[in-house]
Amino acid sequence: MTLVDSFGRTHNNLRISVTDRCNIRCFYCMPEGPVQYMPRQHLLTYEEITELVTIFVSLGIDRVRLTGGEPLVRQDLPVLIKSLKAIDGLVDIGLTTNGILLADQAQALKEAGLSRINISLDALDEASFREFARRDGLEAVLRGIEAAQRVGLDPIKINAVAVRGLTEKQIIPFGEFALKTGIDVRFIEYMPLDAENQWEREKVLFAGEIRQALIEHFGPLTPESTSSREAPATDYTFANGQGQIGFIASVSEPFCNRCNRLRLTADGKLRNCLFSLEETDLKSLLRLEESVDHRKRLIAEAIRDSVAHKKEGHEINTARFIQPARPMHSIGG
Ligand code: 5AD
Ligand code: SF4
Repeated sequence: MTLVDSFGRTHNNLRISVTDRCNIRCFYCMPEGPVQYMPRQHLLTYEEITELVTIFVSLGIDRVRLTGGEPLVRQDLPVLIKSLKAIDGLVDIGLTTNGILLADQAQALKEAGLSRINISLDALDEASFREFARRDGLEAVLRGIEAAQRVGLDPIKINAVAVRGLTEKQIIPFGEFALKTGIDVRFIEYMPLDAENQWEREKVLFAGEIRQALIEHFGPLTPESTSSREAPATDYTFANGQGQIGFIASVSEPFCNRCNRLRLTADGKLRNCLFSLEETDLKSLLRLEESVDHRKRLIAEAIRDSVAHKKEGHEINTARFIQPARPMHSIGG
């Protein structure tokens, strides 16, 4: 079974948000002030997530990534990982975290069967970290990264959102960090998914500009041959062969034509694109008083229908673009 849309794209990758809560307040994702979080009874339980993922896998999904909000603020995440791990046909479970709670949880996550981990980190000094996150936390994140390395989570990747006026002074420090640690650092162009509608194209620091600054300082960068054509990131290796740096150029070089992703929100809505304005309510189907088989059929049909209606791509670079009502923390990165 495969989930192919009307543009021929096969979807094998599902991102699952497990909570819209977060312990920091990155300006590109969350509002600064009080947040209206989803009421607890609206969240899918771990049993419900597992039931849904089993259906997704029967339709052709073989990779999932857990996201938030901040996924590690949800209780007992390793329990979910273990339960997903038992699904036949699921080959890869990843996690995207801000790393603040990681030092304490890295061991349990590894033991539960987590394969790969992405840690969001936008700056390498405390003052700049605060400009992004509007909270303290750099020390905790660095401790989290060390713990992830210690317990053998592999690969570990850092995601840094690229914002004009803020990220320029992080480029060389991140280059040095990548060289020193061997951890892959990826710059992601700032996308219009913030809660305060402050995004403007002028505020995006483009991948090409960052790459140029790195080359001027570190010398030539060699494109990674192994980077799979599907992946949104383009990765490069430094001249000395150690350390990798990558770019996710969602704004300057959209990769919608290669998109293989679907997204499930913490309240059980399926989104066929980060920027979609419509969602499919899988939770209601899951909670219908029907036989398991009948529910399965309804859900599978709803998933296929959502994929069939996926649009060709986002329109960030056009005047037609409409920012989705959900900010990033309630979609899942
Ligand atoms: N633009 C680009 N990346 C974003 N992320 C969150 N919001 C945005 C945005 N507006 C990234 C975070 C994290 C992942 C969850 O998504 O850096 O790595
Ligand atoms: Fe929290 Fe991640 Fe959003 Fe930052 S990007 S506010 S860490 S959910």
